[in-house]
Order: sequence, then structure tokens, then C-alpha cells
Amino acid sequence: MKNKIQLGVVGYGERMHHVLRYLCKLHHEASVVGIVDPRESEIHERDASLTETRLQENYGPDFKNLQFFSSLKEMLGTVQIDGLLIGTNCNTHTDIAIEAMSYQLPIFLEKPVSITTEQVQRLYEASLSYQQEAVISFPLRMSLFAQKARELVSSNTLGRVLQVEAYNHVTYGSNYFSGHYRDFEETGGLWLQKATHDLDVISYVLGSRAKRVAAMHTVHEVYGGNEPAGLTCDICPKFETCEQSPFWDYLHRSGDDVMPNTKKLCVFGSDVGNLEDQGATLIQYENGAQASYTQNFYVRNKPARGARFIGTQGMVEFDYYTAKIVHTPFHSRDRVEIKVEHSDSHGGGDPYLVHNFIQIIRGEAKSKSPLLAGIESANLCLVCRTSAEQQRFLEVPPLDALG
Ligand SMILES: NC(=O)c1ccc[n+]([C@@H]2O[C@H](COP(=O)([O-])OP(=O)(O)OC[C@H]3O[C@@H](n4cnc5c(N)ncnc54)[C@H](O)[C@@H]3O)[C@@H](O)[C@H]2O)c1
Repeated sequence: MKNKIQLGVVGYGERMHHVLRYLCKLHHEASVVGIVDPRESEIHERDASLTETRLQENYGPDFKNLQFFSSLKEMLGTVQIDGLLIGTNCNTHTDIAIEAMSYQLPIFLEKPVSITTEQVQRLYEASLSYQQEAVISFPLRMSLFAQKARELVSSNTLGRVLQVEAYNHVTYGSNYFSGHYRDFEETGGLWLQKATHDLDVISYVLGSRAKRVAAMHTVHEVYGGNEPAGLTCDICPKFETCEQSPFWDYLHRSGDDVMPNTKKLCVFGSDVGNLEDQGATLIQYENGAQASYTQNFYVRNKPARGARFIGTQGMVEFDYYTAKIVHTPFHSRDRVEIKVEHSDSHGGGDPYLVHNFIQIIRGEAKSKSPLLAGIESANLCLVCRTSAEQQRFLEVPPLDALG
């Protein structure tokens, strides 16, 4: 086992901050030694107010050696890196991953791995000469929920699984419309942003690839409108009466200790972008299973995310929020209900993801969330988006047939 593991990061934002905290708490032999991020001064400023314990939790025991670099090339030319984590904004994942893969580094790559078909194609091509392992940041597939369901499906306990019902009610969905995620050029929309996780779980549990899709969504039915571009809640005359304002949220819903950000961009602005308010898709899989998946970004107060896998002999259903897995056999009385402790909105999957990444660096394991799964999921989300736009069934092209 390696005594020390040196990690590099490209894009140290919110997500990577959390990922690295899981990693550094689990693996005291690992430290972040290099970061590439244009927010360097902001990160330094924040870190200056933190205790040494906190810095160690964020970056590992060698946090005092952490250096910032202006490019991946400069970082790799200066410090020895055993593995690289990529947590930049969505539109940059493919290019940075391809560069990192050319150095044959193990990578931890945020989802969605690509946001256009051209990117999917390039990443797939680069994957063919990549000799290392990548971990795609799909925590849901690592959760006990997905693991149990996969076990029941792959052991044939459920018989032949013909049907899947999956759903995601994103009660914090308005956040996507009031911040940088509303920039369609940056994110590619909410199929890629959200469905990429849930569709990965369905394929993972079924052990099969999607082959045909019929999708629908709405745009500008809930969010979007005629409010002036750039309007923020703090200067809006409707601050106290708008149901989407932080004032309303605080008074009528949360009443938390912390007043929400009042400077968020208006979700009814003319500049809200083309994100989908909600979407639904039917998917046919190569093994004959048929799935329906719906996602919704305007439900409030009742979060829900989960799935039912319905076989000829029984059904398994789970929901990350109720934190329950239920296996109902159809021809006996032995229904099993499992309550999962210490779950979170990612189903407790993040620590398993980062542990898998360290095992790969040590040469002890293969990826449990491999690059091809990330590419397949992005490809499928793009087909769902196109199917909804064109209102027709579409085949999901095999990766080697793209281009
Ligand atoms: N897997 C998950 O469950 C999950 C959860 C949340 C977010 N995410 C994904 O993580 C990614 C980051 O999201 P976030 O909320 O942390 O955003 P963020 O804006 O907080 O972080 C992005 C960081 O990347 C930096 N950056 C941008 N371009 C860069 C470049 N070319 N080189 C180096 N650094 C660059 C930014 O300065 C910023 O610090 C997104 O793609 C998002 O979809 C995944």
C-alpha cells in the first residue's frame, strides 16, 4: 500500500470541496498537492479563516504543501500526481478529461462527462487509448439502494425484470434557474444535469444498455417570463409577494436559521435560459426491459427520488429520501423492508466513490463507476433531450457509431 498519495484537482468548487472532504476523512495517506482554478485568490481568502483541523479535513495532512497552478500541464510538470480530480463546470469536463487521459492518470471526473454529442464522440475516442481507470461521479449507483436492487436483479430473484418506474422530484429545483446553472451553454440543460444520475442507476441495476427513447419536456411553462434580464430578488418590487423569493421561502416554508441569498437571479426573467421545468422519458433496453423516468423541478416540500424494478417474480423499490428499500416477492409472504441509516440525498454513495478512486490509485481495484458508464449516460441524456425537442422516438446510437 502507498504511504502517501498525492492528488491534483482541476476545478475546486462546491462539489469538489465536498468530495475531497469525504476522501481526506477516509484516507489519511492522501493529500491535495496541486489545484488549477481561476478562483485561486478566493479560495486562499476562504482558507485563511479556517483552522488547521479544517484545512487537514479539506486537503489532507500535507495541506501546507498545497500549490496552485495555471494549467494542468504546469501542475504535472512541477509536482508528482498519483490521481486527478476534475470538478470544473459541465461544458469543460470533456476537454480536461481528454488532456488528463493523455497523461494516463487515474481520474475522478464529475458528471455530466459531456454536454454535446460531439463531446461524447471525442471522449469515447480518447477512451480507446486510455490505459488507466476513471471514476465517474455517480454516487447514486454506489448507494446501498442501487447495490441491493442490482443484487436482486442480477441473482434473478425478481425473475425477468420487464418494467422500471423511476422519478426525481427536485424540491430545490428553482436554484438551477436562479444561478449559473441556467446558462444552457454551460450545462446543456437538466437532462444532462440530473437525469444522467438516475438513468445511470437504471442501466446499472438492469445490467443493460438503453436502445430506444421517447421523451417529452416543457420549457418556460413554469420558469421564465417577462421580468427584466439581470433582475435579482433583493431589488425586485415583488420581493415579499413572489412565491419564489427568498423572503417568501423563509416566511412560509423554511424559517431556518439562515436567511437565504437575496441576490439570486429572477426565475421569471426573460434571460432565464432554456432549462426544462420537467421531463419524462420512456426507455427500452437491450434486454427487453422498459423504463419510465420523470423529473420535476418545481415540486416543493416533498422531495422524492427513487425507482421500482418490477420483475415477473417480485419487485424491489427504493427511495433515497424515505431511505427505505422494499423487496416484495409475488408468490410468497416474505416481504423484506430495509431502513437505510445515515443516508443522504446521494444515498450515502459519495464515500464509496472516493474510496474506489483511492483503491484504483493503489492498483487494488477496477472502477465501479467507469468512464464508459459516464459516456453512455451522457449520450442517453442527449438522445432524451433531442427526442423531447423533436417529439419522436429515437434510437440510442452505439458509441462507436457516433460521428
Ligand atoms: N456528482 C454529483 O452528485 C454532483 C453534485 C453537484 C455538482 N456536480 C457537478 O460538479 C461540477 C461543478 O459544480 P459546482 O457546483 O462545484 O460548481 P462551482 O462553480 O462551485 O465549481 C466549479 C469550479 O471550477 C472552476 N473552473 C471553471 N473552469 C475551470 C477551468 N477551465 N480550469 C480550472 N478550474 C475551472 C471554477 O472556478 C469553480 O471553482 C458541475 O459539473 C456539476 O454538474 C456533481
